[in-house]
Amino acid sequence: MIPMKKILVTGGAGFIGSAVLRQFLNETDCHVVNVDKLTYAGNLQSLASVSDSPRYAFEKVDICDAAEVARVFREHQPDALMHLAAESHVDRSISGPAEFIQTNIFGTYTLLEAARNHWNNLEGDKKADFRFHHISTDEVYGSLGDEGFFTEDTAYKPNSPYSASKASSDHLVRAWHHSYGLPVVTTNCSNNYGPYHFPEKLIPLVILNAVNGKPLPIYGKGDNIRDWLYVDDHARALRLVLEKGTLGETYNIGGRNEKTNLEVVQTICAILDELRPQGAPHSQLITYVTDRPGHDMRYAIDASKIANDLGWKPLETFDTGLRKTVQWYLSNTDWVQGVTSGDYQNWVQQNYTNRSAT
Ligand code: NAD
Ligand code: DAU
Repeated sequence: MIPMKKILVTGGAGFIGSAVLRQFLNETDCHVVNVDKLTYAGNLQSLASVSDSPRYAFEKVDICDAAEVARVFREHQPDALMHLAAESHVDRSISGPAEFIQTNIFGTYTLLEAARNHWNNLEGDKKADFRFHHISTDEVYGSLGDEGFFTEDTAYKPNSPYSASKASSDHLVRAWHHSYGLPVVTTNCSNNYGPYHFPEKLIPLVILNAVNGKPLPIYGKGDNIRDWLYVDDHARALRLVLEKGTLGETYNIGGRNEKTNLEVVQTICAILDELRPQGAPHSQLITYVTDRPGHDMRYAIDASKIANDLGWKPLETFDTGLRKTVQWYLSNTDWVQGVTSGDYQNWVQQNYTNRSAT
């Protein structure tokens, strides 16, 4: 196993990045530097349980800002980079693609160049052990029919501005490995769910709407299928790939939990009927709404490569993970209140200024 002392994580204030940071700080002795611009999706309150650690540092930096990214590499001298920062919501990419092109493509290019410069200046084991881990999505493969799975060899066929921007970033990472020898690994994961998920995405949106007696919007007929993975299982897989993944390779990550959107929403309603019986039956709130344009029908990951080569398997089933998630949203009212009222962003504005803007 490669000894990783200091990891630079981009997007560490987001849903998955914050899960990765909490694991690093709670379960290892690594130092972590969180590089995050704090867009609407970045929330430092998700890191409140670990941000007092002396092994944690925060840099409020836009990954598209080459000078600031170079400074971060110079000052922190990381042993590895895990790149999660992105615009991540498909619906937003359809209504406004520009930010997705900027952050997901140009931002990844900026990081690749800064990492290449840093890596070129390393020597010996430090140079041999450096890793650029690019975190990507199964959406780059497009949409499946009724049968089959995405493997690492499936052709790229992205359908939304979001997935096209992530596909572009995957290609850049691959090219920096082949052209410059930059030591990279890439992972493509299916739909995550769990605590600290921003409530624009299906699962947290439905939990909070149901608790508040609001409509539960289902796009189209609700028969689109996603393959759900509990976020901590994804974070564990990412750490494993960083430490043991073969350079230049990609690994698919998924939970083998295929569900239609309607099944997901009905299961959340059933859990809430039990935990919050006063609102039962919550399924009466289900409302069918206009479909997402170009809505991919089915995603399903074949995760046998990471299972066979690296020994990863998820710890949560969909039932255990979803119950934990619903319970978390019911118990963590301060976090929910901060996000739904927008207070988390006021707090950031009062406590942080962007260095490049000062
Ligand atoms: P998220 O939207 O919750 O978080 C993204 C984070 O990136 C935020 O903290 C945001 O402030 C930061 N960010 C955005 N633009 C930035 C910029 N220009 N500079 C610096 N920071 C910036 O996203 P997530 O769901 O945690 O996803 C993280 C990564 O994992 C993304 O790359 C996404 O494509 C990928 N992914 C997500 C899922 C999923 O189901 N959520 C599945 C597979 C892959
Ligand atoms: O597959 C991995 C991807 O999963 C990640 O790369 C993305 O960053 C992440 O956002 C997620 O994308 P999806 O588009 O699948 O997630 P979302 O939660 O937006 O939608 C899940 C499904 O639910 C999808 O089929 C659309 C549907 N949906 C979504 C919302 C927000 C609804 O029916 N109603 C809704 O209100």
